Amino acid sequence: MIFDLSGKRVLVIGGSYGMGFATARAALELGATVAIAARGREKLEEAAASLEQVAGEPVPWTALRIEDRPAVAAFIARHAPFDHLVLPGSTVKPILYQDLDDASAREAFESKFWGPFWACFDARPHLRRGGSIVLYSGVAAVRPVKGYLMGACINGAINAATRSLALDFAAQGVRVNTIAPGLTDTPLNDVLHAHDKKERYAALGSRLPVGRIGTADEAAQAAIYLMCNGYVTAEVLGVDGGQQVMD
Ligand SMILES: NC(=O)c1ccc[n+]([C@@H]2O[C@H](COP(=O)([O-])OP(=O)(O)OC[C@H]3O[C@@H](n4cnc5c(N)ncnc54)[C@H](OP(=O)(O)O)[C@@H]3O)[C@@H](O)[C@H]2O)c1
Repeated sequence: MIFDLSGKRVLVIGGSYGMGFATARAALELGATVAIAARGREKLEEAAASLEQVAGEPVPWTALRIEDRPAVAAFIARHAPFDHLVLPGSTVKPILYQDLDDASAREAFESKFWGPFWACFDARPHLRRGGSIVLYSGVAAVRPVKGYLMGACINGAINAATRSLALDFAAQGVRVNTIAPGLTDTPLNDVLHAHDKKERYAALGSRLPVGRIGTADEAAQAAIYLMCNGYVTAEVLGVDGGQQVMD
């Protein structure tokens, strides 16, 4: 089998829906054991019940916020040692430049940058040799969209951190990579674009080289690849339908 995670333990913070849930399910299908975390208990319970069907045993879940470093560290320590840490869970609200204020700018970094950043740091003693970390940035780092200034800044910071962290983790035999998604059909966009999701998907999809927007399963395939391929580290992997080169 080219992709095999049997005997591996995978933690997914942000695993109750969207790309994280799809990744947790795919990892289970490849033989891993999985633990998930996110904020909302109801969705976690639903996700765990659905994942249990694949795992054939209960899948542990924890309610936490990625911004709450002690809670994240406790989750990490509780499931240690493990092989892969996957970090799609965070929240960045779109906000136009003229409406930006100090608090909302810092809040965005607190969630999507500092949350995963300290999770990596706190995972250091618990990651097994041969394992990896998968971070999430986004195509906005290189193809900016109005209203996503903070997303662009944070994504750029994550991309830069990925390359440096790969060096820091190399000594312990752990790889560090990032997925940079483009517009992907997940519940994130039900919230962010509740009023114009369909139009937005159609408008951007038709401009992309692949002619459509992405799916959570396609992002999960990228995460599985990054976990399984021991020769890939310091990589920022675009899963964006070619958005970086679209007209
Ligand atoms: N979907 C896209 O179009 C797109 C495009 C570019 C980049 N991305 C990036 O790709 C990653 C995954 O996105 P997605 O579309 O799968 O998101 P999603 O559908 O919103 O799913 C996010 C997951 O993370 C959890 N989560 C959200 N905020 C959290 C927090 N503060 N602390 C802990 N858990 C949290 C959610 O559960 P709870 O809400 O219950 O906590 C859920 O399990 C994110 O970094 C996102 O910015 C997505």
